[in-house]
Amino acid sequence: MIIKNFSLKNYNTFGIDVETESFIAIQSEQELVKLLETTKGSPYRVLGGGSNILLTENYKGLTIVMKNLGIELVEETSDFVLIEAQAGENWHDLVLWALENDFGGIENLAFIPGSVGAAPIQNIGAYGVELESVFHSCRVLDLKELSFKTFDKKACSFGYRNSIFKNKLRGSVIITSVTLRLQKKPHQIQSHYGTLQSALDGKSKTIQTVAEVVISIRKSKLPDPNEIGNSGSFFKNPIITTNHFNKLLKKHPELPHYPDHDGHVKIPAAWMIEQLGFKGKRNGDAGVHKKQALVLVNYGNAKGSELLNLAKEIQKQVLQEFEIPLEIEVNLL
Ligand code: EPU
Repeated sequence: MIIKNFSLKNYNTFGIDVETESFIAIQSEQELVKLLETTKGSPYRVLGGGSNILLTENYKGLTIVMKNLGIELVEETSDFVLIEAQAGENWHDLVLWALENDFGGIENLAFIPGSVGAAPIQNIGAYGVELESVFHSCRVLDLKELSFKTFDKKACSFGYRNSIFKNKLRGSVIITSVTLRLQKKPHQIQSHYGTLQSALDGKSKTIQTVAEVVISIRKSKLPDPNEIGNSGSFFKNPIITTNHFNKLLKKHPELPHYPDHDGHVKIPAAWMIEQLGFKGKRNGDAGVHKKQALVLVNYGNAKGSELLNLAKEIQKQVLQEFEIPLEIEVNLL
């Protein structure tokens, strides 16, 4: 059912109150195809869980939210299973399902807000694991041809918080389901990420304990979108050359860094933002989270443009001080 002049406040985790001209929640692939056959030519866009977007203006068109559900075991061998989850499933519900069934591989990605269909778009990642490490394929609807296609891992061109869906195919396909390759026992536990490793110290290393620890770290650092509006990390962690890094070290000897691809290092954006005094800063209802400087927050009635202005001020100062252009990680709509 299409609803007219609908507020999207409850459909984005930043809690921004903008209106869409019309709105529909879709329950199945068939319903989606039928809808698009009738709306040919008129503007529309698709939202997943709304947890990686910043809405900056009202939308003159149809907003479609994928709510198709279902998790199915499609193949099983002695070492692994292929699991197909529909795009509208909640990501964390899928992680819980995997834990209950003792299927490993996504426990480090526990408690990430958002939908299954949105997960490949930014190749979600946390605590040393990225979606691509368990990704098998996804089913997409090609919006030009209105036909379904299957994309394997290679076709998705995954990168750090990146994929073909964020670039070349932006706006031209809709992901309708995702298939993951999960491990049966013995699981390969990924516990090398600093904070995770220390929190697991002395505990038995099972996929269930990893998930518990990840959930408690996330709860302690990241704001709960049900309490304070946010979209997780607002910026990407920048990757710079070793030359640039060595130059910065002279001015900032404590600059944290992680090795990346040949001759490059990754710098935690949160550290630079904190050094510049933005952590916990608040302009009206737009602010920088008190416990994690990479997360922008909406304390109530912030407009998308106010959060964007704060982001631009951060980008400007980081560029001045560190000569690093910070890239926004959330999608601006
Ligand atoms: N740090 C600070 N100040 C802060 C927070 C962090 O200086 O307020 C520095 C510290 O040096 C710390 C380092 O940043 O050791 C890394 O911090 P953290 O482990 O919290 O991770 P992050 O780099 O800030 C990334 C992801 C998160 C993910 C965590 C854990 C990106 C853009 N963000 O954040 O992902 O949960 O690692 O793996 O890569 C998201 O994408 O929305 C997200 C929350």
